Amino acid sequence: MPPRKIIIDTDPGQDDAVAILLALASPEDLEVLGITCVAGNVPLPLTTRNARIVCELAGKPDTRIFAGCDRPSGRDLVTAEHVHGKTGLDGPVLPDPTMLLQDQHAVDFIIETLRAQPEKSVTLCPLGPLTNIATALQRAPDIAPRIAEIVLMGGAYFEVGNITPTAEFNIYVDPEAAKIVFDCGAPIVVLPLDVTHKALVTPSRNQAFRDIGTRVGTAVAQMTDFFERFDIQKYGSEGAPLHDPCVTAYLLAPHLFSGRHINVEIETDSALCRGMTVADWWRVTDREANALFLGDIDAEHFFKLLTERLARL
Ligand code: BDR
Ligand code: CA
Repeated sequence: MPPRKIIIDTDPGQDDAVAILLALASPEDLEVLGITCVAGNVPLPLTTRNARIVCELAGKPDTRIFAGCDRPSGRDLVTAEHVHGKTGLDGPVLPDPTMLLQDQHAVDFIIETLRAQPEKSVTLCPLGPLTNIATALQRAPDIAPRIAEIVLMGGAYFEVGNITPTAEFNIYVDPEAAKIVFDCGAPIVVLPLDVTHKALVTPSRNQAFRDIGTRVGTAVAQMTDFFERFDIQKYGSEGAPLHDPCVTAYLLAPHLFSGRHINVEIETDSALCRGMTVADWWRVTDREANALFLGDIDAEHFFKLLTERLARL
């Protein structure tokens, strides 16, 4: 089988970085057509910078990286330096990137690629707020039926919220965009906090990254060292949840995950619940299913896969 064509839409972030590294380490499975950056964890100038740092760290400076939207269209940008540090990629000391950004806007790249590639051959992998994807869908509604699948990190049901008591960060930053995406009709797979909070970097898993003994292994260990202090303090967990790499791992090994085809609606109005993913996990409404909402992960095999693949870079 030829590799699956993907566009990674991202706001790096240490966990985004690991998701990108896992994809770039897997060329026989995944062809990264481009990386589109969005404002989220940190402002756009930093997410575009971090994406280039990560591609250079992977030894893949030919990867095409595009700058996208610098804020949600209807509200102010909310960022997460309290989690990811001032640069968004705090932890390892990595050189300034030298590779250039593409001239084209990320939204135009997404539209053009979906129109140019065979129908249902391109999978979108959003790892941040959904501003770029929603803008593309609004500007070019004809692309929706051309999307193979949208496999995204965002939302929560049992875990409820991480940025407010009821909302997960990626959805909270741009709930209107999330609503557009969940309503677009393309097949959607959701990796919510319910999954990612089970993908914890325990000390021995972090040591396994370090033991790879390469620049990539060491950098990933240092990223998680930094990133985990926040979650250990907040949740009393053993280590950082590797949210975004769950998206890449789902593409590589979907059998490691389980969930339900259910209806998921996005709350955009309520002051208390804005950005909540109202997931009908128990199927108590007759609203039509619009997403595969995952709930569980085989964390042991996920970390095995991740460590093996990172060792290739
Ligand atoms: C999500 O928010 C960001 O902080 C992470 O990169 C991840 O995409 C988790 O809520
Ligand atoms: Ca992210």
